[in-house]
Amino acid sequence: MLVLGIETSCDEASAAVVADRRTILSNIIYSQDHIHCQFGGVVPELASREHLRKIDGVVAAALEQSGVGLSTIDAFAVTCGPGLIGSLLIGICYAKSLAYYCDKPLYGINHLIGHMHAVFLEHDEPAAPYLTLLVSGGHTSLLHTGDDRVTRTIGRTRDDAAGEAFDKVAKMLGLGYPGGPHIEKRAAEGKAIIRFSRAKMSDGSLDFSFSGLKTAVLYHLRENPVTDRLIADVAASFQKACIESLVQQTGRALDQFPATALLLCGGVACNTPLRTALSHLAARYALPCLYPPPRLCADNGAMVAAVALAGRADPVSPLDLDGDPNLRIQS
Ligand code: KG4
Ligand code: ZN
Repeated sequence: MLVLGIETSCDEASAAVVADRRTILSNIIYSQDHIHCQFGGVVPELASREHLRKIDGVVAAALEQSGVGLSTIDAFAVTCGPGLIGSLLIGICYAKSLAYYCDKPLYGINHLIGHMHAVFLEHDEPAAPYLTLLVSGGHTSLLHTGDDRVTRTIGRTRDDAAGEAFDKVAKMLGLGYPGGPHIEKRAAEGKAIIRFSRAKMSDGSLDFSFSGLKTAVLYHLRENPVTDRLIADVAASFQKACIESLVQQTGRALDQFPATALLLCGGVACNTPLRTALSHLAARYALPCLYPPPRLCADNGAMVAAVALAGRADPVSPLDLDGDPNLRIQS
């Protein structure tokens, strides 16, 4: 079975051809970082306009690199939410047209479930139940896949996503966009000697909060002369606080929910100290810690195709599918 997956939920336009659950024949990712870097964050209107310009070429490149013709594609899969509505609609309209023209099934895929399935492009899916920490620019969630193989959200951020906090702190520090890789690099040169406050959920929930940490960084920068040394120390201290919050809530989730494995996914899963900290946490519970390689952590079409190939989505009518910017996890 050959699936063409299309992803345009934010600022990456991606298309991939995936066969037989794991074989990635192509995975073309067109990043718009060069457009949004001057603003320190994604500008939705610019993102959708650029998707409109590029989607045709990205899909054509994915088909060409895969070596298969459009007529041999068995099904189409596209991210239908959550995300930026203008961006989502470009990918959805394109995928609808292809499915209608080829008279093949169309699958509307939840972006968050897609990130989770990026792990299964690299590792066998563990036996349920298992726990997933999803950390990206738009989302920070703890997902639990139960014995019934249904995935439910058991914790989510109440304000900023972890990746968003990395991006905003990088902007404050005058580093580039996206901020995550810049913070990680500068953090390696600094010392985590500044004690930034971490959010505590007094109601005992498994939710996250990163806006207080971001504000603490802002005040620290206002009150201290910004030197190269300070930038490196702030990066290291912020990254440490952020990782500690993620590890703490994930540990609490492991105390409360049964799991055979711990999964880590989303763009922030590229962060090496986070991978190390989560691996240590999993080891304390004698669990494997599974994460995708960096190229599959960020938004990509292969993870979207993977959900359809795993039989975790039902086909929809090409004429009915709509985008939902706030789509929740249902499966
Ligand atoms: O999953 P993704 O590509 O897009 C969303 O669905 O949001 O994640 C992008 C986010 C950005 O906020 C970026 O700064 C962050 O992932 N990121 C990182 C690293 N690489 C990317 N955060 C921390 N450390 C990294 N090495
Ligand atoms: Zn994403």
